[in-house]
Amino acid sequence: MKTENRVTEMLGIQYPIVQAAMSWLTDAKLVAAVSNAGGMGVMGPHAGYQTRPSGPDEVGQRIRNEIHKIKSLTEKPFAINLYLPPDGQSDPYSKATFEAAVAEGVRYFVTVGSVNRAMVKEIKDNDSKWIHRELTPSPEAAKMAEQHGADILIATGYDEGGTIPQNKIGTFSIVPTIVDAVSIPVMATGGINDIRGVRAAFALGAEAVYLGTRFIASEECPAAEATKQDIVQSKGSDLIMVSSFSRSTPHKFARELEAMYRNGESTENIEKRISENGGVSKSMLHGKLDEGTITTNTAIDLITEVKSSKEIIHELMADFIKE
Ligand SMILES: Cc1cc2nc3c(=O)[nH]c(=O)nc-3n(C[C@H](O)[C@H](O)[C@H](O)COP(=O)(O)O)c2cc1C
Repeated sequence: MKTENRVTEMLGIQYPIVQAAMSWLTDAKLVAAVSNAGGMGVMGPHAGYQTRPSGPDEVGQRIRNEIHKIKSLTEKPFAINLYLPPDGQSDPYSKATFEAAVAEGVRYFVTVGSVNRAMVKEIKDNDSKWIHRELTPSPEAAKMAEQHGADILIATGYDEGGTIPQNKIGTFSIVPTIVDAVSIPVMATGGINDIRGVRAAFALGAEAVYLGTRFIASEECPAAEATKQDIVQSKGSDLIMVSSFSRSTPHKFARELEAMYRNGESTENIEKRISENGGVSKSMLHGKLDEGTITTNTAIDLITEVKSSKEIIHELMADFIKE
């Protein structure tokens, strides 16, 4: 398959594969390893740290420190994840992240949320590439992002790890739907863990793949070894729903949440409990599997080994590697 396409050209990368932003689990080492291997690394929230920041000022300082580390490890392009609050609102943490990234010369942003006109104008005014991901994708939202200058869209299927789309539309359905709705390039995400998933994504019209779960089980990911082994050993059929937004492998805290969910507890209360518990920091970063949720995509049967990011990229991108 042709190596160059609109995504690789726009992002200045060798292969059409991007490592997804993941709270706590995407530090400088992982981001740089992916970028050095020819894909693009994306730094998500809490990168490189083990505790929550005291406020936006500390967020800005942390982002700058982690960007310095990335730059010491690679000269290749990388991106920063930005949460977009609803249009008309502002978020001090996002603002601090954006300002720190701009001060460090970052020119690639992967946004999550809905189109916030003030923030996307700032991204575009900064002469940056804007890659946008709606948590729950739709053709209408995709067109809106395109109209406001998005360079690339990420179409997220219900199969994904992390906060799952509320429309329950799988990757096979949402990718071609979004591809047909816009003329800018689309990346596919949700349940892509091996080369068959990559081939399927391209057959559906995607021009790149965006992978989270597969990179958790990489050597460079800061997730605890216990988390990586949990992913390697678990099956999709083991996963339990802990709220309409999250699934998990079945450990103690996740089972408690599952019971709350089954008993009709509101999503808001369950998600609040997860967040008050530190999100995935205790469970996935520190490996205390019983003390939090272990969120993964539904295709974990296909992840049977922890490998280096380079090996993962070479395996998944085999069709694009010129002999
Ligand atoms: C543990 C975990 C944490 C995540 N945190 C974030 C986040 O902070 N910001 C974000 O935009 N997406 C986040 N995501 C979603 C990923 O960016 C991506 O959409 C998803 O992992 C892709 O699906 P896959 O896991 O099937 O590859 C997270 C996903 C996981 C598994």
